[in-house]
Amino acid sequence: MRFGVVAIVVGLGLLGLCQLAGPARLVAAEGAPNLAPGDPQRGKYVLELGQCAGCHGQNLAGWRAGGPPEQPESAPFGELFAGPFGTAPARNITPDRETGVGSWTDEQLIEAIRNGREPKGSQLFPIMPYLTFHFMSDQDVSDLVAFLRTVPPVGNRVPERNLTGPLPPLPPLPPSPAQAPTSGLDRGGYLANAVVGCGDCHTPLSTSGAPDRSRQLAGWFVPRAEGRFEIAPNITPDPTTGIGRWSSEDIIHLLKTGERPFGLPPVKGLMKLVIEEPPLGGLNQLTDSDAQAITAYLRSIPPISNVAQPPGPPAPPPQAQPSPFAAPSPAPAVQPAQVPRALPRTGSALELAGLVGALGVTLAAGGVAIHRRRRRD
Ligand code: HEC
Ligand code: HEC
Repeated sequence: MRFGVVAIVVGLGLLGLCQLAGPARLVAAEGAPNLAPGDPQRGKYVLELGQCAGCHGQNLAGWRAGGPPEQPESAPFGELFAGPFGTAPARNITPDRETGVGSWTDEQLIEAIRNGREPKGSQLFPIMPYLTFHFMSDQDVSDLVAFLRTVPPVGNRVPERNLTGPLPPLPPLPPSPAQAPTSGLDRGGYLANAVVGCGDCHTPLSTSGAPDRSRQLAGWFVPRAEGRFEIAPNITPDPTTGIGRWSSEDIIHLLKTGERPFGLPPVKGLMKLVIEEPPLGGLNQLTDSDAQAITAYLRSIPPISNVAQPPGPPAPPPQAQPSPFAAPSPAPAVQPAQVPRALPRTGSALELAGLVGALGVTLAAGGVAIHRRRRRD
């Protein structure tokens, strides 16, 4: 069952970490490349699609120390992630030299964003979606960093995180791409998987808690505060349980406005925020060609028949009864059609991702907000 497996994953991670000589070995093999200076205007677009402000706050200054975990009244500030793993506040990523990242080099920022490595060598908690951003191109990440340099510095000292145990080690990942695809399905797959991270909400988790790539985007639930959850529906081209009956125009329109076809009400909650995170923006900033590319990609993935279900009755003790989702998922039978645009992930990276997913589920039971919790519904 899920929680048992989680314990094992965490346990293995612990073991692995003890065997490591030093933090330098925690991260991907590739060093930060020598990149051309970025373009802040393009970087703003990457930041909006990457949803940085959804966690770091509209002012990007991270969680405000002393504020409650849910702090709608302090709207510009970011989120505190808390749960059985401890607490991990979103950090101050403004250029403030004392409390933000103003003294970091571009390379250090890129390492944090794509490999989760901090300048002092420690590994970021993978709620920070570096396992997604790892696959962001050199150009996009340097544009992003160039934009981060331009935002107003905000003095806000975010408290240290407080983890209850060590993180599983991050094994070597494939090198990050130099170039992002510029058009077509590849562009759409890149944006969906390496920048926006649609699968962070829409892909089911396997029994280990890692994203189940054989059911990519087939729908799942996203834990929110106080044991609530949101259903992120099946967005594969399955005609009955997915969005197979939506036209391309329908999908493009949804991505840019949140409005659904067939007289359905507009999206709300997390998806609304993914689309229109104010005042920066989200998917509503998509260029026409990028909206078309994501749409083409969505229409190209294997249709999967699945209706995403809520996680069962609230807060059952983890050991009480297996969750309906704990049924063993089929061995990762990845259809060949999926391979070319599915991003390469190593087994252990999946374990690390699994830790986040699994904790998300645990947290749902514990009634604590996690994972792209947004401020408003
Ligand atoms: C789902 C929430 C989430 C999103 C989305 C997110 N972050 Fe983070 N980020 C975090 C958390 C939480 C931490 C702190 C992790 C820890 O304490 O180990 C963090 C840490 C960081 C750090 C390290 C800062 C430091 O002082 O150590 C940087 C840099 C960063 N994020 C940049 C970004 C950028 C740029 C984006 C968008 C492309 C982004 N983040 C999107 C949650 C998020
Ligand atoms: C932070 C979580 C999250 C992310 C990231 C996310 N979504 Fe969603 N999405 C949701 C939720 C939750 C809903 C349901 C909204 C509702 O029911 O009002 C949704 C709804 C949708 C719908 C409408 C489906 C239907 O049957 O009505 C589509 C299409 C969609 N998302 C596509 C995407 C795409 C494409 C991406 C990436 C580019 C993406 N989403 C990223 C959470 C997310």
